[in-house]
Amino acid sequence: MNAFTYRDGMLHAEDVAVAELAERYDTPLFVYSRNHLLAQLGALTAAFAAVKPLVCYSVKTNSNGAVIKTFAEGGAGADVVSGGELWRARRAGVPAERVVFAGVGKTADEIEFALKEGIRFFTVESEPELARISDVARRIGATGRVALRVNPDVDPQTHKYISTGKKENKFGLDLARAEQAYEMAARLPNLEVVGLHMHIGSQILTSHPFVEAVRKIAPLCQTLKRAHPAFRCLDIGGGIGIQYKPEQHALEPVVVARELVPLLQPLGLEIVMEPGRYLVGNAGVLVARVQYVKDSPFKKFVIVDAAMNDLIRPSLYQAHHEICAVRETSARVHGDVVGPICESGDFLAQDRELPEMRQGDLLAVLSAGAYGFAMSSSYNSRPRAAEVMVNGKDHTLIRRRETWEDLVAHETI
Ligand code: LLP
Repeated sequence: MNAFTYRDGMLHAEDVAVAELAERYDTPLFVYSRNHLLAQLGALTAAFAAVKPLVCYSVKTNSNGAVIKTFAEGGAGADVVSGGELWRARRAGVPAERVVFAGVGKTADEIEFALKEGIRFFTVESEPELARISDVARRIGATGRVALRVNPDVDPQTHKYISTGKKENKFGLDLARAEQAYEMAARLPNLEVVGLHMHIGSQILTSHPFVEAVRKIAPLCQTLKRAHPAFRCLDIGGGIGIQYKPEQHALEPVVVARELVPLLQPLGLEIVMEPGRYLVGNAGVLVARVQYVKDSPFKKFVIVDAAMNDLIRPSLYQAHHEICAVRETSARVHGDVVGPICESGDFLAQDRELPEMRQGDLLAVLSAGAYGFAMSSSYNSRPRAAEVMVNGKDHTLIRRRETWEDLVAHETI
């Protein structure tokens, strides 16, 4: 589904004109489509129906409570990486038994909170972490269910910052060492070995890395099933890529499922998936207003009121986000779209063919639903943007724009 289309020359989010939202809520503004979120969840679940996956939405991708709640209502669980994310997921109505907790640096406090909530399992990244979960669980009289994260050493062919399943990455346990770690887990008190976890990277656009990784870990799953009576789950992580450029082919879940399901089914394990970007990436846009058009002898700069603090992906990963004029135009110019922040790295698009825009016009930065607001900051003392959720003809403010007061709310002079 594409929730953002032109009608009578004006960009719409579902049935609502984006210009009307900008008028009502001001800019910069994140706009999400509720039906797009649900359609993505439905497509993923349907593609993998043969293995009845538990889809644990990766909360880090877009942590807004209304987004998490939408997925929870659609039957999803949550993949969290901090106490804060666990707290958000529970607040948004995700049942604890549908929460999995990942991350290399869980603190004792976070572990205690998760144990008390009764999460499904921890995905464990190291031997000392096993020992810590065991200690905390023993102290409070709980049992920590654990799935060890293995590093299958495959190349997901994505940006180096978001590749996580290669041996030089900090994530997971070396496959060769994993069995030993499982034996350690089995010996430690107050732990139950329930599964195995992998997550090889993000924005993956072919099924090969997933297939290669599952092929590599399948024999270990068989061995572990025999060795540990409670071993019952394989969590294959997230990583399914989306279309950012018009010429790019998105990786459709049916394509991955066609190749993965035949490998997963014989394992006889409960399958967990942790998608983030696939579920929310193209369900959101960032709307900005042109403040100035600056023609230098070398370049045209379209200066807008959104910046790297709102969407850091172009600056951080040289990521491509399509730029659309909210009022459709066929006129094209060449140049950069930049924000007001005092850094040359503050751009939303660089050296691009762009729709022609004038001062006061609105533009939309597409594919901004994933790792957009979630990675935003108030750098340059810019209050963070507002977020709106559209559902058909309706729209709801799901996070109000920050104020200057908010900027200093935690400070003492
Ligand atoms: N599970 C784990 C353990 C993860 O670390 C991640 C993402 C996911 C699931 C969800 O991955 P996804 O389905 O979204 O690919 N900020 C970067 C992406 C960082 C990904 C971090 N881990 C970006 O803007 O591209």
